[in-house]
Amino acid sequence: MKTAIVTGASRGIGAVIAKRLNELNYNLVLNYRSSTKSMEELIKSFTNKKTKNIIVKCNISNYQDAKKLIDEAYKNFGKVDALINNAGITRDNILALMTEEEFDEVIATNLKGTFNCCKHIARPMIKQKHGRVVNISSVVGLAGNPGQVNYSASKAGLIGMTKSMARELGKRNILVNAIAPGFIKTEMTDKIPEDIKKEMLKNIPLERLGDPSDIADCVEFLISDKASYITGQVLSVNGGFYM
Ligand code: NAI
Repeated sequence: MKTAIVTGASRGIGAVIAKRLNELNYNLVLNYRSSTKSMEELIKSFTNKKTKNIIVKCNISNYQDAKKLIDEAYKNFGKVDALINNAGITRDNILALMTEEEFDEVIATNLKGTFNCCKHIARPMIKQKHGRVVNISSVVGLAGNPGQVNYSASKAGLIGMTKSMARELGKRNILVNAIAPGFIKTEMTDKIPEDIKKEMLKNIPLERLGDPSDIADCVEFLISDKASYITGQVLSVNGGFYM
């Protein structure tokens, strides 16, 4: 049985990825930052009861906490086939008003948090001679977005990190890719005011927001045997919003 780690799995895209991997018979190491109740409910909702799931409460932006997450995974399962770096936050503001804290917090979670998890899993994955890493970036890391200087920098950074990791780790049979979602319906995008959402929809050829399951589909593909010659790529899943 394969094992996967999903960061930020308590809700939104992370929770849907976790459900999908459960259906695919993965043992799961599910990371969350605050809501133990949501995690317990998520595991209760799993349809496949034959797998083992562990939950690890930690803030991935903390280097030692992230180590704890990876260590727990190896302690429980002995190997990890896939790491899905999904945890992310926004702290939107226009540049002129953006505080240092807003910038630092977003970089600490989205970019450094992903580095922390990748750094700690690199050695054990090299040792086991295989692995897949999927980093959840964003269309905003490719196209930019007003009010998201911090977030777009973090997500563009993830793309550079993905490509460098792919180059370093390819010879070790570790494949590293990124997914750049467009606007996906979750609590993160529920925060966007309705008038701005309407404007956004005008620029999406498919005329709708994406669903978290659209992202889970791509994760499923990228960690499957069908993607065994794909590394260092950024898969855009945005309804045509940015080409
Ligand atoms: P969400 O806000 O609904 O969920 C994010 C999850 O990450 C939550 O479970 C949260 O607790 C967790 N998290 C945040 N900081 C953490 C930390 N320091 N340590 C551990 N867990 C932490 O967001 P959503 O929409 O599900 O987004 C998931 C990923 O997809 C994020 O990386 C986001 O940037 C990215 N994304 C989302 C898009 C969207 O339209 N919803 C578009 C493009 C990218």
